[in-house]
Amino acid sequence: MEHAYRFSVAPMLDCTDRHFRVLMRQVSRHALLYTEMVVARALHHILREGPTGVAGAAEREQRLERLLGFDPEERPLALQLGGDDPAMLAEAARLGAERGYDEINLNVGCPSEKVQQGRFGACLMADPERVARCVAAMAAASDLPVTVKHRIGIDERDSFEELLTFVDAVAAGGARRFAVHARKAWLEGLDPKQNRTIPPLRWDLVQRLKQERPALTIELNGGLLDPDQCRQQLAAGLDGVMVGRAAYEHPLRWNGIDADLFGDGHPPARASTVVRGLLPHTDRWCAGGGRVWAIARHLVHVVEGVSGARHWRASLTRAAGARGAGVEALEEAARQLEERGL
Ligand SMILES: Cc1cc2nc3c(=O)[nH]c(=O)nc-3n(C[C@H](O)[C@H](O)[C@H](O)COP(=O)(O)O)c2cc1C
Repeated sequence: MEHAYRFSVAPMLDCTDRHFRVLMRQVSRHALLYTEMVVARALHHILREGPTGVAGAAEREQRLERLLGFDPEERPLALQLGGDDPAMLAEAARLGAERGYDEINLNVGCPSEKVQQGRFGACLMADPERVARCVAAMAAASDLPVTVKHRIGIDERDSFEELLTFVDAVAAGGARRFAVHARKAWLEGLDPKQNRTIPPLRWDLVQRLKQERPALTIELNGGLLDPDQCRQQLAAGLDGVMVGRAAYEHPLRWNGIDADLFGDGHPPARASTVVRGLLPHTDRWCAGGGRVWAIARHLVHVVEGVSGARHWRASLTRAAGARGAGVEALEEAARQLEERGL
């Protein structure tokens, strides 16, 4: 069996929450999934500065669960952390290991202003030694592999040599894999959304990185739109491909990857099997007091390109958005799809 990182779904704030991950798991049994970025300092704050006493412990657990909770069926699952402090990142990595994650990933790619103010994310590319210390501390904190997601450069520091210097230092710190977003980031002047579209895609530089450092495990991210492009990049020598927006916006586009990339011939998911597969998770979520809309909001992309899609979405939105709505809203949505053979 291939490594899960051969195909992964990129970490995306507000998108790859636990519900979308369970959704994606209906599409692929093998892909590596990532959490949204969790800020190590926020975990530290809950652990060290939260309320005290028995009631405090229960509240602390609730807050940790909100940031770190997942269903076992989401695995293989990587916890992505944001931070720049080795001790805090080590503490967060230990929490991730205790809770059953399969991998700890450090975000060195986010260019948002808020993240920059915290001095982490993409701006850490300017300080490879600090990233190496962070990675070493995280790796020492548990047995889990520690990986890094980063850009090909930032601002004027965008030469191939600088990229190599970064990767070499971080590899020496113990990073086991590099997920490379094949765009540089401009830290001033562009917002995160613009930083995902304006700097040109340089898949060639990521290929070159793999050629020059064949012993390292390198995953390509950025602008991959369909399984064919992914296959081509893997055939060209990369160890893995990571897809973000195209997976969120078109989940069923990827229903052939288990057969194509992982050699698993189970029947490809359909819209109805995805929705039905979400029912046990939805039941548990609603029984714990969660709102069904938190799950249904991700489902609007599951049906596309067929007549009646808009009607189905509107009906799901109405049913799942109603006060007191529960799992029956998704059962009805699945039934409608089954009726149409979708
Ligand atoms: C809405 C959104 C939120 C994102 N949040 C994160 C994040 O939390 N951590 C991270 O490393 N990258 C984040 N990214 C970047 C993606 O992981 C990915 O690198 C980027 O979208 C390029 O890949 P794509 O072209 O396949 O979407 C986010 C992207 C989007 C669109």
